[in-house]
Amino acid sequence: TAAATTTITPDDTADATIDQSPSNFTFVELFAGIGGFRLGLEAIGGTCALASERNPNACTIYRRHFHRNNSTAISTTTSPSDVLIECDMLDLHPTDFPAHFHLLTAGFPCQPFTIRGPQSGLYDTDRNSNPRGQMYQELVRVLNATQPPFFLFENVVGLVTMEGGYARHGKGVHEFKAGSVMEEVLAAFRSCGYQVDWHVINSGGVVPQYRERVYFVGSRSDLSCPPINWTSIERRGSCPTLRNILQSDYNALDSSVRTESCELTQRQYDKLQSIHSGHALHKARLDPNSYAPTLTSGYRQPASSYTRYVMEERDGTLRHGDPLRPRFLTLRECARVMGIPDGFDVSAPVGGEVGHVYKGLGNAVVPGIIEGIGKEILRSMKEVEGRKGQL
Ligand SMILES: C[S@@+](CC[C@H](N)C(=O)[O-])C[C@H]1O[C@@H](n2cnc3c(N)ncnc32)[C@H](O)[C@@H]1O
Repeated sequence: TAAATTTITPDDTADATIDQSPSNFTFVELFAGIGGFRLGLEAIGGTCALASERNPNACTIYRRHFHRNNSTAISTTTSPSDVLIECDMLDLHPTDFPAHFHLLTAGFPCQPFTIRGPQSGLYDTDRNSNPRGQMYQELVRVLNATQPPFFLFENVVGLVTMEGGYARHGKGVHEFKAGSVMEEVLAAFRSCGYQVDWHVINSGGVVPQYRERVYFVGSRSDLSCPPINWTSIERRGSCPTLRNILQSDYNALDSSVRTESCELTQRQYDKLQSIHSGHALHKARLDPNSYAPTLTSGYRQPASSYTRYVMEERDGTLRHGDPLRPRFLTLRECARVMGIPDGFDVSAPVGGEVGHVYKGLGNAVVPGIIEGIGKEILRSMKEVEGRKGQL
């Protein structure tokens, strides 16, 4: 049966019911990217037992932060605590996994489902003819082989709405119905022996960004866990506006950094004007008093009509044209829009380009949302431990 879900107005008091005490649990992070799941889960006491990712630039950024590898070069060298396996998911073997862990996480590839692509769905392949639309089957393979108590997966809303589903947005209420592709994916996860709950969450409650994503939470059927309380996860009250996260020191940044990553060349500026037919440039503007639209992996591509530009600095200085052209968000600003802490190194890896970091940030999950869902899963873990002794 097709499931429908509704985003209810967030309740800022609901978090009080969650046990906030630090907890020890272990998780595995597949399709790890730059480590958005890990940032969210470490914040609530989780320990990463294994991570896997095939993109070398994403791996470098990941290692630089989590394994304190001082080298900024693209490298596969590992430090003793390095749990990241740099390989294709198809090459990851069940023996690579720890014997026991509590939570499997994955933001599995979204290109087959995104409404910004051709929506080839489950039969989508990448340019090397790899079966990109079938990557959820790799998660099925891992679930069957390892049977962790819980899983948490993430993808784009296009996966929900494809082939017969829908998204309806009204005042304060957002309704989603699963189409047949989503039903097929859900059935596959359930067939591994899990109760599976899903929900669409807009990250705009925790970061100044409109970012709707679907989250799947699975609990092993024998654990008989209660459903997730999704309403405690989206929070709105304390979310800063975009202006708050713009860099106040933009002009003091190294000019090579500004030129390389943020300033538009004349050619790019011409293109931007042609896309937005000159006078309608304001449509491409980021509103500093509001939030950013969804940050994508292709954010820094002026050929895209989706790209939005800083046309007003934090202090109100306007950037409407020559000599002060609109600019891209800096890498630090993109990280902040994702809720990634300022301690995270967003400089380009040696041998890599700033574009690799923009891509990694646009692909990531918002750690604050993962933290919120993680707290709910933690509550279930504790409830099961109380009932059964141990997980
Ligand atoms: C949506 S992103 C996940 C981002 C991650 N959740 C984060 O917070 O950074 C999907 C990731 O899967 C990786 N990926 C895609 N196909 C893969 C494969 N066959 N094997 C391993 N990794 C793959 C991509 O390189 C990308 O980093």
